[in-house]
Amino acid sequence: MGTKGREIVGMDVEQNIQGEQCAIEAYQKLSKMFKDKDSITYQLVLEILEDEVEHEEDLEALLEDLELM
Ligand SMILES: [Fe+2]
Repeated sequence: MGTKGREIVGMDVEQNIQGEQCAIEAYQKLSKMFKDKDSITYQLVLEILEDEVEHEEDLEALLEDLELM
């Protein structure tokens, strides 16, 4: 992949990171809403939140690797 290609992939990954951050924010808000109200939904939201944080971390790592190429 050439420099231009890496740049385009990098921008794409950055957009995806923003998407994950948006999801993280949404699930954080939901977790606050359900805390002390509905423990099953709260646990479910926490599990999804954990997944979203993992997605964001994976994409950040990918972006770092791309920058090292
Ligand atoms: Fe995600």
